Amino acid sequence: MKCVDDFRLRLGNQELVPIMIGGMGVDISTVELALEAARLGGIGHISDAMVPTVIDRHLKTRYTKDKLKLYKANVTNLADKSEVKFHLGELEEATRLHVRRAMDAKQGDGMVFINCMEKLTMNAPRETLKVRLTAALDAGIEGITLAAGLHLGSFGMIEEHPRFRDAKLGIIVSSLRALQLFLRKSARSNRLPDYVVVEGPLAGGHLGFGMDWAEYDLFTIVAEIQAWLKAEQLDLPLIPAGGIFTGSDATAFLENGAAAVQVATRFTVSHECGLPDPIKQEYYKADEDDIVVNGISPTGYPMRMIKSSPAIGAGTHPNCESFGYILDAHGRCSYIDAYNREVAAAAANPAAGKKIKVYDKTCLCTHMRDFDLWTCGHTTSRLKDTSVKQEDGNYTLLSAEHIFHDYQFSKDGKIALPG
Ligand SMILES: Cc1cc2nc3c(=O)[nH]c(=O)nc-3n(C[C@H](O)[C@H](O)[C@H](O)COP(=O)(O)O)c2cc1C
Repeated sequence: MKCVDDFRLRLGNQELVPIMIGGMGVDISTVELALEAARLGGIGHISDAMVPTVIDRHLKTRYTKDKLKLYKANVTNLADKSEVKFHLGELEEATRLHVRRAMDAKQGDGMVFINCMEKLTMNAPRETLKVRLTAALDAGIEGITLAAGLHLGSFGMIEEHPRFRDAKLGIIVSSLRALQLFLRKSARSNRLPDYVVVEGPLAGGHLGFGMDWAEYDLFTIVAEIQAWLKAEQLDLPLIPAGGIFTGSDATAFLENGAAAVQVATRFTVSHECGLPDPIKQEYYKADEDDIVVNGISPTGYPMRMIKSSPAIGAGTHPNCESFGYILDAHGRCSYIDAYNREVAAAAANPAAGKKIKVYDKTCLCTHMRDFDLWTCGHTTSRLKDTSVKQEDGNYTLLSAEHIFHDYQFSKDGKIALPG
């Protein structure tokens, strides 16, 4: 019987353990977690979501405070956020600091990539995305995985960069159609992606499916893409993701021709994961009924989360002057519209009380920054089977190394419990 360790991922002249830990924003897949994956010979992702805010927390910089100071007068202007722009020089600097934190500390034969959330439109989608991609390459990131809201022109934005052909560039798709569209659009840059992550409907974070996500399954999507690539004689490493919970699940994909697997949920209860420890316990304790896919993300994509996330129903005042990562090219965010609607409703009906509650959308920036939106994969309800319960009812946190090795060496659907 084979295990994951019987396979290797080849990317250029690099040979890796075929385990990639997926990006988890905002700072859930930390630098420390990505470094562990690289030290163990696989691939780890840092995330490029809300980097100025993340780097403020780690390095005591003041990007967020300075932005708020600059736009403070606009905080009460709930109708128009169009002037609340990111300073591109600062965004570049913050991204470089973030990537350098990882690359300067890297050890081992694996690699560190960055997950680039293209849906973070930041009130100037093209300009900010270009800066983020370029700065990450400048700072030595070994690969970029283009995610959520795949911008079909991304390769074109960086094709003049000296590292355009040497850094590994990958994309995340959830359908053959999305892959075909991207390849058609990027053909001009005469460069194929180095790998394609095929993310199925059981993943955490935002989903590349509609609310009918349950009608799809990863195995079928991967098989469809494999067949098309074969017919087109294209050799693109495929990396399935979403619901791969054991080493045996991973091995089944590798035996069927996948180049590697991307996993995330199991690492949410690792010491190295950025979620605060009490929230890791919420992940451990969640049952299947406690997990929901809903439409509260203002990105417009369905998102999976634990139902008791404080972000659900919170009526947070929009914090676009500090954050504003979801503002579109016209300075709009669907959360602001939902919030304004509830403010107007409260004004029209003072008897109902002043407390604003918004259920259909959430202030994603604020709540992801504060770890109040507990996004998770479908298999979160199985995390309790990967650890031991202590007398106080809490579960033992795991090292990323323990989880990584369990994926790498386990057979027969087994999960190694902590010793
Ligand atoms: C807590 C959490 C946050 C995530 N955030 C992101 C993200 O910011 N960007 C992204 O492309 N994928 C995100 N994902 C998806 C993962 O990178 C990965 O592809 C997927 O969850 C793998 O499936 P698994 O969690 O069942 O192992 C997230 C997943 C989780 C569990």
